[in-house]
Amino acid sequence: MTGTPVATESAAQLLAGLAALQRARERTRALTDAVTDADLVAQHSPLMSPLVWDLAHIANQEELWLVRTAAGAPALVPAEVDDLYDAFRHPRRDRPTLPIMGPAEARDYAERVRASLLALADAGALDPDPGVPLRAGGFVLGMVAQHEQQHDETMLATHQLRAGAPVLHAAEPPPSAGGAVPAEVLVPAGSFVMGTSSDPWALDNERPAHRVELDAFWIDTLPVTNAVYTRFIEAGGYDDPRWWTAVGWAHRLAEGLSAPQFWYPDPAGWRRRRFGVDEPVPPDEPVLHVCFHEAAAYARWAGRRLPTEAEWEKAARHDPATGSSRTYPWGEQPPDESRANLGQRHLRPAAVGAYPAGASAYGVHQLLGDVWEWTASGFDPYPGFVAFPYDEYSKVFFGGDFRVLRGGSFGTDPVACRGTFRNWDLPIRRQIFSGFRTARDAGPGDAGGVDRTARDASPGDASAHRATRAGTG
Ligand code: AVJ
Ligand code: FE
Repeated sequence: MTGTPVATESAAQLLAGLAALQRARERTRALTDAVTDADLVAQHSPLMSPLVWDLAHIANQEELWLVRTAAGAPALVPAEVDDLYDAFRHPRRDRPTLPIMGPAEARDYAERVRASLLALADAGALDPDPGVPLRAGGFVLGMVAQHEQQHDETMLATHQLRAGAPVLHAAEPPPSAGGAVPAEVLVPAGSFVMGTSSDPWALDNERPAHRVELDAFWIDTLPVTNAVYTRFIEAGGYDDPRWWTAVGWAHRLAEGLSAPQFWYPDPAGWRRRRFGVDEPVPPDEPVLHVCFHEAAAYARWAGRRLPTEAEWEKAARHDPATGSSRTYPWGEQPPDESRANLGQRHLRPAAVGAYPAGASAYGVHQLLGDVWEWTASGFDPYPGFVAFPYDEYSKVFFGGDFRVLRGGSFGTDPVACRGTFRNWDLPIRRQIFSGFRTARDAGPGDAGGVDRTARDASPGDASAHRATRAGTG
């Protein structure tokens, strides 16, 4: 068998899957070894699980999908353990009261599952096989690696909610590259290919590829920054119901929202707490830890709106020169540190303008990495959607009160980030690494044209286009 193209490809897919699992485990270990056992079992927020629950849940999903389902090996734990780590049976706020594994037991379980999986992989039981949907292209390996990395990002959000001195460390992100970037670009009317039928590790909700027709629209080339968002705060945006939906305003009143989460006012300006560091809010960074309602209110105040999910993806993936959709905004090359702030390489978003090499065909920057971007869209299936391999990843969330977020954050690993990747959360959530950019409909004079009206806005300059439009309110 060896030497045939199919065997070579499948060996490469197996190796890529095992490498992704290895990278995920190194991150899981770093996130859980950084704190004491008491911290691992504590609940740092009712919105989050104790870190030790995430750890054993990661192992349990790996056992379920790789060891038992894909490789067909017997269970390592009794059925009661599966129940404890079933996210649907026990909401996050209840998890501390469950008889879950302690830190030593959870670590041991994770090691045992991983050892078993590596032995099974060695024996050929996980070989990619185009005839077995779960193993085609190494899908189930990629799915489990993405699952672990998604929980790693959730654990990173738990770290952010945790009180106390910093325990995580990372290099500072790059500064703005400094070139002038127009404030917004026109994406002309026309269809594009949304979603994918060919990316072997794409999850069920990203499938299938389908053509979507859109009207022309303008979209921000950069995420909305702290400096620009502060103008909304200082203009009384949080106190004016005109900018908020009825539901958003009720939420703003009930929760007393007055600024992004983790911000607090100081005579010298806004400050924030970030992974245990107390610091001035950096003006040039994308705004972080805002909920959908805040993002939508800002957009309305600025005379704009959030992009729809389809608009976001067209701005990110469509290449007007070829008519096809790219895997990443810049093309097909996997993300690296010159293109996007991903993978917890840094513990914060980078300044806007820091990744010119990551821009899309339309010249839209920082679509991947830095902050998850709220879109105007609810979480719904694409035409032809088929739940795979289980209903509880996507299907049970369709049609609910969720909004789609796109693009990934500084805490998202590249394995769980691409132009088609879809995230979703409730519109009130903001402990996630969420920000946004805005859009607007194109007028009749814009249709089919090029970007003639864009002005220069140096990244981070609070006099960017939104400030002038904000005058309408
Ligand atoms: C896709 C991020 C919304 O964390 O709830 C983890 C991912 N699904 N385990 C979540 C997920 C099952 C999911 N999100
Ligand atoms: Fe999970």
